[in-house]
Amino acid sequence: MKKQEWLINGFVGEQIDPDLDIKAAIKQLKKEKNAVIMAHYYQTGDIQDIADYVGDSLALAQWAAKTEADIIVLCGVHFMGETAKILSPNKKVLVPDLNAGCSLADSCPADKFAEFVNAHPDYTVVSYVNTTAAVKALTDVVVTSTNAKQIVDSFAADEKIIFGPDRNLGNYINSITRRKMLLWDGACHVHEQFSVEKIAELKKQYPDALILAHPECKSTILAMADFVGSTAALLKFSTQSNSKRFIVATESGILHEMQKQSPDKEFIPAPPNDSTCACNECNFMRLNTMEKLYNCLKYEFPEITVDPEVAKEAVKPIKRMLEISERLGL
Ligand code: 13P
Ligand code: SF4
Repeated sequence: MKKQEWLINGFVGEQIDPDLDIKAAIKQLKKEKNAVIMAHYYQTGDIQDIADYVGDSLALAQWAAKTEADIIVLCGVHFMGETAKILSPNKKVLVPDLNAGCSLADSCPADKFAEFVNAHPDYTVVSYVNTTAAVKALTDVVVTSTNAKQIVDSFAADEKIIFGPDRNLGNYINSITRRKMLLWDGACHVHEQFSVEKIAELKKQYPDALILAHPECKSTILAMADFVGSTAALLKFSTQSNSKRFIVATESGILHEMQKQSPDKEFIPAPPNDSTCACNECNFMRLNTMEKLYNCLKYEFPEITVDPEVAKEAVKPIKRMLEISERLGL
């Protein structure tokens, strides 16, 4: 079949031949180029299945820091690629679609965050990993949803702390650590969408189902949850629980791995406010496709770059997070 040229991120790539065995082709390219594929749990099932590593934000950062591959293909969003590049500056880091951004990271522009930080000079700055490299460069320690509680707990009880950018995660961490951290007013458009009424209706229909929620959800959703945790923690809980049915309030991509690990259990994605949309799918995460993954491996494009001056500062709070996490066995 004649190949047609097409445009991905301004780059002339390749219209995939429908007869191509794309999985075999990706595996072959990966081997030839000594590349590793890392995928977040919010990627589509086919991408998760072909990845060498599938994990949450913390695990992706930990693997990116350790890999011996020459190329890291980060199937996730831009800030995850940036984190990988900052930790492994000598490696080529690719993200299948460079437009895969993050509404939470976008809710915290670096110049505005700098004003907020400068207005509170005696505060320690804790930032969620869902931030740009420029925001990380203004930060004392980075956290993910897996380690935020433990890292905040590691500070003295009277430590003055700024927490950004997720107000829901910040509120939740304040509540479980009894802190009064100053919060940046940002949020993730996916996790903010879940509806208390619709989850309550589902719970009425399936009274035996346990509600699992990610801490980026609003406090009203967290209040009705049986278990609150990061993507990896929700997965672990679902495999270890005796319950056979779960209502899952986070991006629905995680259901793929939950179902794989517990084929005898039922996982119901929590409905968003507007049930006419697939709002519990992150439209940024879902920009990555198998076709784009193939093209990005083949052409080694699009590549993540980080300004070396920014990276020099941003690497410090990320490494601090990794060191504390290692010490705590996370
Ligand atoms: P975790 O991977 O830490 O669970 O975060 C979820 C998320 O929203 C990633 O973008
Ligand atoms: Fe960002 Fe939310 Fe998408 Fe995660 S799910 S990448 S926080 S927009």
